[in-house]
Amino acid sequence: MTTQQLFAALLCAASLSITGAAGAAGAASKSAAGNAEAGQAKAAACAGCHGADGNSLAEIYAALKAPKIAGQVPEYLVKSLHDFKAGRRTNDSMSPQAQAVAEIDMADIAAWFASQKAKPNVAANKTLLAAGEKIYNKGKGRPDVVAACIGCHGLNGVGNRDWAKIMAVPPVILAPAIGGQHAGYISDQLLAYKAGKRATDNGHVMRDIAGRLDEKDILAVAEYISTLKP
Ligand code: HEC
Ligand code: HEC
Repeated sequence: MTTQQLFAALLCAASLSITGAAGAAGAASKSAAGNAEAGQAKAAACAGCHGADGNSLAEIYAALKAPKIAGQVPEYLVKSLHDFKAGRRTNDSMSPQAQAVAEIDMADIAAWFASQKAKPNVAANKTLLAAGEKIYNKGKGRPDVVAACIGCHGLNGVGNRDWAKIMAVPPVILAPAIGGQHAGYISDQLLAYKAGKRATDNGHVMRDIAGRLDEKDILAVAEYISTLKP
């Protein structure tokens, strides 16, 4: 099975499993059409950690561990706020912030950050890049088969932004934008999925993938992703 076929199969499985939840998914797609201009003002509360345009600086990341959210797929941004609000995902800095965001403001805030562009990082460890590139674009072969990240996270890590062109409702597995993200954030999330500490991925998609990557693979693919320009 090629990666493309696997992805198609996963998408089918995902859309089958959500036919019952079409109402909720419909609401999510409606909320995606936020107003970026209104969102910019509402996002002031996020700027101290994530940056005014969603590009948290390297120094801020080192101190606060707040990821870049510039260019994020808006539906994923809203989903993440809901995950934090509901306690499905917890973080000492972010959980209280999510509690403070009103439901009605989420779509606008998401539209603002989605309209910005993530700025790529310069590789800190160039020797990892080739190995990371291979995993991102080709995945891993036997025995621990891993689907290529590009199949879901897209060219240059832009995320699954174009789902609306092929689907009426957002897929259950809506892959976020990860290109240009801080390498440390990418590797921390992969390690959290691998350990089962982060379980926000529908259908175990990322827990399964991260579980088949060893620590060296994780550092390499994180380094590579951090240099991508979405
Ligand atoms: C006090 C610092 C701080 C503030 C202010 C803050 N965040 Fe965060 N945010 C974080 C940290 C730290 C994380 C990483 C959490 C983790 O590692 O699980 C995060 C994660 C996120 C994520 C998940 C990103 C992803 O790629 O999965 C989103 C979305 C987010 N924040 C949105 C917001 C929004 C919107 C605001 C403003 C309303 C905001 N944050 C304000 C610190 C902050
Ligand atoms: C079948 C589709 C699929 C494939 C293949 C895939 N991902 Fe994901 N990925 C997702 C989805 C969906 C999420 C969001 C899950 C969630 O909400 O917790 C995600 C989330 C992530 C996150 C967390 C992002 C954030 O902002 O918090 C990282 C990091 C990540 N993936 C890296 C990878 C890497 C590296 C690979 C390749 C080794 C990969 N993914 C392959 C679908 C996929």
